Amino acid sequence: MPAHSIEYPHMPFSQFRIQESPRDVRPDGFPVDAPRQDQLKYVLQYAALAPSTHNSQPWLFRVTDASFFLIADRSRGLPAIDPEDRCLTMSCGAALRNLTLALEALGFSFRVSRFPDLSEPDLLARIDIESRKRTDVDTSVLECILARQTSAPQHLVLPPSAGALSRIQSEVADRGATLVMLRREDLDLVLQFDENNRDDALVLAREEAMWRHPNRIRSRDGIPGGVKQTATSFCGNSGGAVFGVLTTSGDRMLSWLQGGVALESGLVVATRENVGVSLCSMPLHRAHVRKDVGEALGLGGTPQVLVRLAQARDYPAPPTPRRPIVDVMVHPGFTG
Ligand SMILES: Cc1cc2nc3c(=O)[nH]c(=O)nc-3n(C[C@H](O)[C@H](O)[C@H](O)COP(=O)(O)O)c2cc1C
Repeated sequence: MPAHSIEYPHMPFSQFRIQESPRDVRPDGFPVDAPRQDQLKYVLQYAALAPSTHNSQPWLFRVTDASFFLIADRSRGLPAIDPEDRCLTMSCGAALRNLTLALEALGFSFRVSRFPDLSEPDLLARIDIESRKRTDVDTSVLECILARQTSAPQHLVLPPSAGALSRIQSEVADRGATLVMLRREDLDLVLQFDENNRDDALVLAREEAMWRHPNRIRSRDGIPGGVKQTATSFCGNSGGAVFGVLTTSGDRMLSWLQGGVALESGLVVATRENVGVSLCSMPLHRAHVRKDVGEALGLGGTPQVLVRLAQARDYPAPPTPRRPIVDVMVHPGFTG
């Protein structure tokens, strides 16, 4: 048994031992002979590695031996910064994409239903496993999910290759969103909108402080390090970095979920292409600002998150923490 493995204390039926942190998952460690439900718990570790706003990891999963149910954990929302749970929903979309990427890599066939029960708005998706049609494992995809990391903007200064950029853009497009590249004057306009639409700074700062902590090194969520990123610092000292904005065709829950799927798909391809990416959603938290920015820039869709892309280099930044999957699984007896 690996040194850092734990059992599910409240799931006595489980015989599968799992890594304490999803970061310790091994791409060559799929438990081929384990019962199906335990195999799905292995897959769940990749979902838990998804990026999320403020590393809030706002997802819950119910796992049976044939299905995953992805549930929004609104107790992890940021009501001042993200008043509509837009970024929360996008984060869940990113987790959904990791889940389906891992299932594909492991040879599973499956079916995804988004918002399968409209009377349950927190139930974002249901993933039904059909069979395992291949037994070979594409570990390269699993390795990219594991290696993906959001970069700090100040490290992103070398121009990415045009080829890599267009592969990222076409991946995002394949997943139902658009990555529109922005010129300097477009960014200046977004910054101007940001300047004109500042919310109560103290309220935002308080909420930010709950998730961005300089000293809680044992935390399994939130962002270690005390430096707060602003839209201005995100856009500054760009060197050869390029900027874009991910847009969706609508601006409701389904579009946000889809936007998160497309975002993570692009980020995993960026990892494969050795492109570092930094994200900035702050200026776009209000619906009227998204509408105005979309119109002013002629985007043809709703802007959801700004991206800064550059050739990746090796940085000492430690990976952000994750909760063990036992913390993101809904107890089988829970009916709330
Ligand atoms: C929808 C969404 C919005 C985000 N917005 C921001 C942002 O405004 N500023 C920022 O620094 N990071 C942003 N991030 C990145 C998260 O902070 C990052 O994913 C999280 O800290 C986990 O770290 P990791 O991506 O390195 O695993 C965002 C991520 C998502 C999924």
